Amino acid sequence: MSLQIDSTRLSAELEYLARISDTPYPSVTRVLFSEVDLRAREWLKQLYADAGLVVREDAVGNTFARWVGTDAEAAPVATGSHIDAIPNAGMYDGVVGVLGGLEAIRALQRGGKRPRRSIELVMFTAEEPTRFGLGCLGSRLMAGTLSREKINTLRDPLGLSVDDACARAYMHGTLEETVLPKGCYDSFVELHIEQGPLLERQKLPIGVVTAIAAPAAVRIELSGPGGHAGTVLMTDRHDPSLAAAEIMLAVDQAARATQSRDTVATCGLVHVLPGAVNSIPREVKLEIDVRDIDGARRDGVLVAIRAAAKTAAERYGCGFKEQLINADPPAACAPHIISAVEESSERLGLASQRMISRAYHDSLFMAQVCPTSMIFVPSKDGISHRPDEYSSPEEIANGVAVLAGALDLLANN
Ligand code: GLV
Ligand code: MN
Ligand code: MN
Repeated sequence: MSLQIDSTRLSAELEYLARISDTPYPSVTRVLFSEVDLRAREWLKQLYADAGLVVREDAVGNTFARWVGTDAEAAPVATGSHIDAIPNAGMYDGVVGVLGGLEAIRALQRGGKRPRRSIELVMFTAEEPTRFGLGCLGSRLMAGTLSREKINTLRDPLGLSVDDACARAYMHGTLEETVLPKGCYDSFVELHIEQGPLLERQKLPIGVVTAIAAPAAVRIELSGPGGHAGTVLMTDRHDPSLAAAEIMLAVDQAARATQSRDTVATCGLVHVLPGAVNSIPREVKLEIDVRDIDGARRDGVLVAIRAAAKTAAERYGCGFKEQLINADPPAACAPHIISAVEESSERLGLASQRMISRAYHDSLFMAQVCPTSMIFVPSKDGISHRPDEYSSPEEIANGVAVLAGALDLLANN
């Protein structure tokens, strides 16, 4: 089948969605169930309706848009990604997999042949951890890996629970109903920007993902008496920001000590209270992200960081609390989907390369529901989670064409 990707329309849709944001273009900030997120969701549902897709939304706002195949009994093939964006992000992360997934379906529709299996486009809720501190909220729930006890511990910065946030966003049903039965999909393939530099450096248009690195996150809270920055003598202080500084260095060292380029650790969130120049810090909250393709090695780094944190807190006589937010296993991608993506690329004359994903994605959890893989397209200078994130219309169209071809292969097997 010859596939015509409407790159002009897709680019216009990407541009339109980028402007539904809490920060000025080209910066994108779209946090779960914010006014802009809800507006973006409504706009997407209209696009789905225009494409004749059957839409369902679950209790946490995961949205499913189905192009019904000729064999209603056959397990559907699914694709999709997320549209939420961390503060001051770019316009392609996640969105390319949702709008690109939609364009892949429209291209197949234009081809004129309905597939045997239905093709379902999934928009996952809160892939980013911004609101509740935990990434992949929607896909974790779908995979049944998020217990009720754990959900009940999650709070947004205003202290709202996930259930409260869903109720305020007019979602229906209970979070327990979001779990997907195993095997409900034949396969899942997510199109995403690489968010790293490898495809661009090698001048390759397509990456085929074979495995997704295991993410973990830890929250550390340090406390001290605080006090006046002028009058409390240096010898009398218990400043939690000094313990925090040592912990941040230990995070970096723990990752480097493995001597593997697959181990990374970041302290991306530091909150200091009361946050006044003439006040000794009283409370410091750190959130630390650790990833590795090797789950056991990642766990070793976590142990080292947690030990260093405790020691640093003791050294400065500070209060110390820690919480493991998540520690997920890595995912292996399905050989038959990898082959379908490679075959689709070959048919289009696009060179591809197998690679691992160092970023996490909803695919990490979809791999627990059904066979899963991902398609990557190049990211300019490897930049992501920044407003200057960029993939060209042609690079995106290539990814959409490969996705459409792979969906066609998988949906007609
Ligand atoms: C996803 O946004 C990640 O942090 O890998
Ligand atoms: Mn992201
Ligand atoms: Mn993403």
